[in-house]
Amino acid sequence: MDKKIQALFRTKKISTTDSDSSSLRRSLSTFDLICMGIGAIVGAGIFVLTGIVAATKAGPAMVLSFVLAGLTSAFAAFSYAELSSSVGGCGSAYGYAYRSAGELFAWIIGWDLLLEYLISAAAVANGWSSYFNDILQSFHLVISPVWLNGPFEGGIINLPAILVVLLTGTLLILGVKLSARFNVLMVCIKLSVIILFILLTCRHVNPANWHPFFPFHWHGVLAGAALVFFAYIGFDAVSTAAEETITPQISLPIGIIVSLLVSTLLYIVVTLVLTGVVPYTQLNVSSPLSLALSHLGYRMGAAIIDLGAIAGLTTVILVMFYGLTRILLAMSRDKLLPTFFINVNSKTGTPIRIIVIIMVINSTLAGLFPLTVLADLVNIGTLSAFIIVCACVIILRHTKPDMERPFKTPFSPLIPGLGIVSCFYLIAGLPSITWLRFLIWLFIGLIIYYTYSRHHSLVKE
Ligand code: ALA
Repeated sequence: MDKKIQALFRTKKISTTDSDSSSLRRSLSTFDLICMGIGAIVGAGIFVLTGIVAATKAGPAMVLSFVLAGLTSAFAAFSYAELSSSVGGCGSAYGYAYRSAGELFAWIIGWDLLLEYLISAAAVANGWSSYFNDILQSFHLVISPVWLNGPFEGGIINLPAILVVLLTGTLLILGVKLSARFNVLMVCIKLSVIILFILLTCRHVNPANWHPFFPFHWHGVLAGAALVFFAYIGFDAVSTAAEETITPQISLPIGIIVSLLVSTLLYIVVTLVLTGVVPYTQLNVSSPLSLALSHLGYRMGAAIIDLGAIAGLTTVILVMFYGLTRILLAMSRDKLLPTFFINVNSKTGTPIRIIVIIMVINSTLAGLFPLTVLADLVNIGTLSAFIIVCACVIILRHTKPDMERPFKTPFSPLIPGLGIVSCFYLIAGLPSITWLRFLIWLFIGLIIYYTYSRHHSLVKE
């Protein structure tokens, strides 16, 4: 096994001159990557989850839940920054695990990442559909509920959710640079809307609303952190752009860390202001930011927030969808999945076959299934990936001490170690049914590995 890993190290260095039919084009700048990170991070977590967490889990102390989840993400982000700049590859954690722990481990983490990206894109597409419907209603346009819900929720199919998956998929087919430009535009809209929210509401903060600060005690803060962790998911998708970035060694660490920093600061200010203007008991709604503005009499402001949420959720779907296609590409190149997928179109520079297949699967998931329950799986899947990435930093520092590391995680192994511990801590805060569903997913993955992937793998025993 050790020889296999060494062989991979020799053959999979970051290259800027690849030109075979599975090569991607380098066109992304540092700015694109920062926007990509913010695009994937800021979405349903802040626009939807904040109200529910404040009202039912943590009260005004929700800000501490965000700090805890943010710290956990920051520990992992340093590890992602180190590995994306030194190991590279569009497979992200899958690739890092391949190089540090071998094929089986890599398969498990790749399978886990497929779950994270697939379900989060489909779940956020469901949220997008609700906001889209709200906006249509404000123009007195009514869609029958049977076209807004899947069969498990009394409808036929969720058409807007399918629409957004098809739109983002088409953009990704047309080219990564075009997708990145669209993403930058949408990120500007969502950031402007969030800043507008802060400016409009901060003058109305009433500190009396922050009392009691800990209505659900510390365990509420922890349960809240396990849930709002969802709001931080996405910076890891930046690492899947390693092969399409002009200067990956510099841009990837900056993209990952800056996008996480900006999002964390925004989250802390928004949660403080939100619970400062509306008593937390009234926040149990799926559009808490618009509720706060309506509460203060800013009707127009509330409508603008809805538009910002649409922009925000669109970029989350776009970047998660993008990340998913790149991880599948990496797994197919290693022949753990059929090589039919690895073709990159010479005109657009994008893996069209993979994108079309994901479009079909994702629109089916988003259109038919209620994904609220499955969304918990996204958190456990991502936390597991973070644990592996932190562990890979420690392992590779030991096994490959001389590897070139343009970015180094500070205070290693302390920071990656804290990343591992804090991720386990948040996993412990998730319901046991989520653990069970996750284990079932991994079990299915192992069956596929032992019946297909192992026999087709690029590197034979
Ligand atoms: N972090 C992303 C969101 O909040 C998944 O929508």
